Amino acid sequence: PVKVYENKHIASKKVAKRIADLIKRKNEKQENAVLGLATGATPVEVYEELIRLHKEEGLSFKNVITFNLDEYYPMKPDAKQSYVRFMDEVLFDHIDIKKENIHIPDGTLAEDDITDYCLAYENKIGEVGGLDLQLLGIGRTGHIGFNEPGSAPNSGTRLVTLDDLTRRDASRDFGGKENVPTKAITMGIGTIFKARQIILMGWNKKKASILKKAIEGEMSGNVPATYLQLSENVEFVLDRDAASALT
Ligand code: F6R
Repeated sequence: PVKVYENKHIASKKVAKRIADLIKRKNEKQENAVLGLATGATPVEVYEELIRLHKEEGLSFKNVITFNLDEYYPMKPDAKQSYVRFMDEVLFDHIDIKKENIHIPDGTLAEDDITDYCLAYENKIGEVGGLDLQLLGIGRTGHIGFNEPGSAPNSGTRLVTLDDLTRRDASRDFGGKENVPTKAITMGIGTIFKARQIILMGWNKKKASILKKAIEGEMSGNVPATYLQLSENVEFVLDRDAASALT
């Protein structure tokens, strides 16, 4: 289903509320809530609202386990553009999550170790019971995570090559496209699919045309997000502008 809200502020609060409700439900049962998280501009206000719920309404993240979708490769965790640093700044440093419950693909591995590491990342998700909820944004190539055009629907966590458009879109963060890494480690489409709920968020006119393709277009590896059409657990949460091209 597609839900369209007046603006991204309202939409982000709705998504944060769903996450908070999930965490509370799990807390009552003394179970962990396992969240798949995204970086980038799209989820920032969701994280802001979660921080507010923690600080003002006592929402605790003590029983929350997180797995981030992706990280650039290579990337040092303390580099300005690392997703480790990003997540600390926009969420983790402001809530009571246990450090050992945070998982973000490691951008410092030797290339030879990546395959084993990725398998272990998948296994870890399984060992804690699988993802209860996966948050997604969408790139202008139609990527989810860093699953660029050509990604297989059953792909797992792996090293990928970033699309040129994705690197161009990231160039501002890196002070030029030439500084954007050419690779990344990402959860696969198959990994994302196993989540019990998937929420793909999209804001602004800039995303309208790719969202039209993702939601209404023919399913194809050229637009990896179209594979989400196969899932019964996915919800597209959009603002008016992002939904403006939908029929
Ligand atoms: C981020 C990720 C990407 C972004 C996408 C949109 O972890 O996996 O798929 O969600 O590139 O980025 P923004 O939100 O910056 O437009």
